[in-house]
Amino acid sequence: MNNKFITFEGVEGCGKSTQIELLADFLQSKNCATVTTREPGGTAISDHIREILLSPEHDNMDPITELLLYGAARRQHVVEFVQPNLAANKIVLCDRYVDSTRAYQGAARKIAPNILNQLLEIPTGGLMPKLTLVFDCPAKLGLERAHKRNLAEKREDRFDNEALEFHCAVQEGFLNLAAKEPERVKVIDASKDMQ
Ligand code: TYD
Repeated sequence: MNNKFITFEGVEGCGKSTQIELLADFLQSKNCATVTTREPGGTAISDHIREILLSPEHDNMDPITELLLYGAARRQHVVEFVQPNLAANKIVLCDRYVDSTRAYQGAARKIAPNILNQLLEIPTGGLMPKLTLVFDCPAKLGLERAHKRNLAEKREDRFDNEALEFHCAVQEGFLNLAAKEPERVKVIDASKDMQ
């Protein structure tokens, strides 16, 4: 566990990316060296893998292939970006990390725990955040927000095309993780719009 590593999690459209930017601005205003990053992504190699993962054309992707690709993108990100920044004593704020894998590939895709756990351990080498904030909003509301954002930004991703039941399983997955690890995982009500 690293005291300066904080992750942000939640269903599509929960607003976590906005909250990361707000926290990063606040910390920088207090002269705390802070970097923000996201998964899948954060390095050139991981960004290439992100494109494969999110392309709506890849609607036939096997769940274990998906899990392996998230793991590959994460390994490169941890080694090339997260660890060096933590070693330089910076605060690392990361948009999604292992809890997304637990919620999406575990709770929603229902990959067996023995396979899932290996693919959580190998890429991270056990590196876990000190604090994880789950931005909780009903899956239906989050999806509506995500669809609006996608229309405005003219983008589409494979997960936004999943059925509502899939996203409900993801939301429940995050809440179960918070119930299991209350010290690390804190739930924040994200159902209201930003004022
Ligand atoms: P992104 O556009 O970053 O979604 P958001 O803006 O909602 O964070 O796309 C990342 C997608 O990848 C998102 O649908 C969640 C999914 N994901 C997984 O399924 N497993 C994972 O381990 C991670 C990191 C993300």
